[in-house]
Amino acid sequence: LPLQKETPLANAVFWAARKGNVALLQLLLNSGRVDADCRDSCGTTALMVASYSGHYECVKDLIMQGADINYQREWGSTALFFASQQGHDDVVKLLFEFGASTEFQTKDGGTALTVASQHGRSKVVETLLKNGANVHDQLNDGATPLFLAAQEGHVTVIRQLLSSGAKVNQSREDGTAALWMAAQMGHNEVVRVLLLRGADRDADRQDGSTALFKAAFEGHNGVIEELLKFSPSVGILKNGSTALHAAVMGGNLQTVLLLLGANADPTVPNKNNELPADLTKSDRILKALRPKIINGDS
Ligand SMILES: *[C@@H]1O[C@H](CO)[C@@H](O)[C@H](O)[C@H]1NC(C)=O
Ligand SMILES: *[C@@H]1O[C@H](CO)[C@@H](O)[C@H](O)[C@H]1NC(C)=O
Repeated sequence: LPLQKETPLANAVFWAARKGNVALLQLLLNSGRVDADCRDSCGTTALMVASYSGHYECVKDLIMQGADINYQREWGSTALFFASQQGHDDVVKLLFEFGASTEFQTKDGGTALTVASQHGRSKVVETLLKNGANVHDQLNDGATPLFLAAQEGHVTVIRQLLSSGAKVNQSREDGTAALWMAAQMGHNEVVRVLLLRGADRDADRQDGSTALFKAAFEGHNGVIEELLKFSPSVGILKNGSTALHAAVMGGNLQTVLLLLGANADPTVPNKNNELPADLTKSDRILKALRPKIINGDS
């Protein structure tokens, strides 16, 4: 949290909240010369600073001195948002005891639950869900807590969210689903869990690419092995290309072999009438593609 220069006493309150110095904090607040809700020019309060830093006693003291629990900083974040982001479950619970709400949003639509999910704070996610957080929260671009956890590879959080009714197929506004994102990032375990919970293996984005296509391009072979267990389409996709084309373009021989093993057909051209073999100069990949072509011709 950037701290701006304010009055010396307010600065001292912020300093004490950041360092967890309860004695100093009490001294300052009891002096009656500085308010528990003093804030910097971005609207940051000492309660936010103490919550971010995980200083339970300071948070408690500030609340007792009348700090506004649900005050929103200029960007929209609250003390609960910061404690959730940093994974301070004890502080999160304390804030709830004193009336913190899970509903406040940052300007990009972020909530305590979206940020805790993104940072893999599974204990906090559990506490938030128990205290009324909405598992269907969405950022302005449509990203859900599940999507954000999938992007960052947080399997435990994904299980919690799905058990609380998160929609596995819900995509971002650009059509990207959690499975696609996890596949692109190479999170095998996340891909496995999402597929087991019914994720659409062939969901495509606006650009026509599927999870398999993307993983093939990136050479994420662990992800591809998980996807192949669910028989995704290895044929021509909406954007006029196949996963095998993507694998060849990506240049990973092992990926090419995995797809061939799953009956991807090297004789299928893309919409530009190019075979996968037309997209590489690698002898090893050409050799892997060639015997199949001969078999196909005979
Ligand atoms: C996700 O989408 C697939 C394909 O449309 C569908 O079969 C599956 O039931 C959906 N899963 C859930 C949990 O809604
Ligand atoms: C299909 O989509 C991918 C991903 O955006 C892109 O890289 C590729 O060029 C597209 N293929 C065709 C034939 O348009």
